[in-house]
Amino acid sequence: MTTVLEPRGDRLWTHEEPLRFYGFEIGRITTVIRLSSGGLFVQSPAELTPALEADLRELGGVRFVAPASKLHGHLYMEQYREAFPDAELLAAPGLDGRRSDLRFDGLLGDAPDPRWAPDLDQVAVLGNRLLTEIAFFHRQSRTLILGDVGYHIGRDSPLKTRLMARLLGMYEQVGPPRDYRLAVTNEASFRRSIREILAWEFDRVIPGHGEIVETGGKRAVLEGFDSLL
Ligand SMILES: [Fe+2]
Repeated sequence: MTTVLEPRGDRLWTHEEPLRFYGFEIGRITTVIRLSSGGLFVQSPAELTPALEADLRELGGVRFVAPASKLHGHLYMEQYREAFPDAELLAAPGLDGRRSDLRFDGLLGDAPDPRWAPDLDQVAVLGNRLLTEIAFFHRQSRTLILGDVGYHIGRDSPLKTRLMARLLGMYEQVGPPRDYRLAVTNEASFRRSIREILAWEFDRVIPGHGEIVETGGKRAVLEGFDSLL
């Protein structure tokens, strides 16, 4: 039995923790997938506490570690390689330049590596001045995994956060926050990335921030990105 990792679906776990952003509680989510080959794929790794490390060992050990985006979810990556010597650290485009102190084992792009391709598909979300991220699709559990391109502030978020989301027109949708929206510089390329994501047959959405959408995720993404498509 895992203690801090919550089972979400077939071979899928999440770990949620609080995170305040400009005074608003938006939380952050780590996603863990057990690959058909046995090892774990960890996206947006949280700080590796003894409890989290024990859970990951119980589930088979970490094989790959991917950040949430070029900007976020990379702070603790090296802890995973220290604890799990077989773990490979993967960079989102642009992260390798920002974290020149880290030795990355691979750079993520549009095509999934053959070692995780049986379980995960991926798309590089491009066209944004501030950040690039890789969106993943876990086939087995029909789950879309996002980093910073889609927040989901829903009914379980604190009141202040819900009010902010309403004001920004992003309440109960999976959509990009305003600062991300303003930084879209190549609309055609951004749109192409989102359309590729929408072509996946997902139902659950795990956003980088906010709440997990257990079902009806495709509609939530369509509503959130409607004005940008
Ligand atoms: Fe983020």
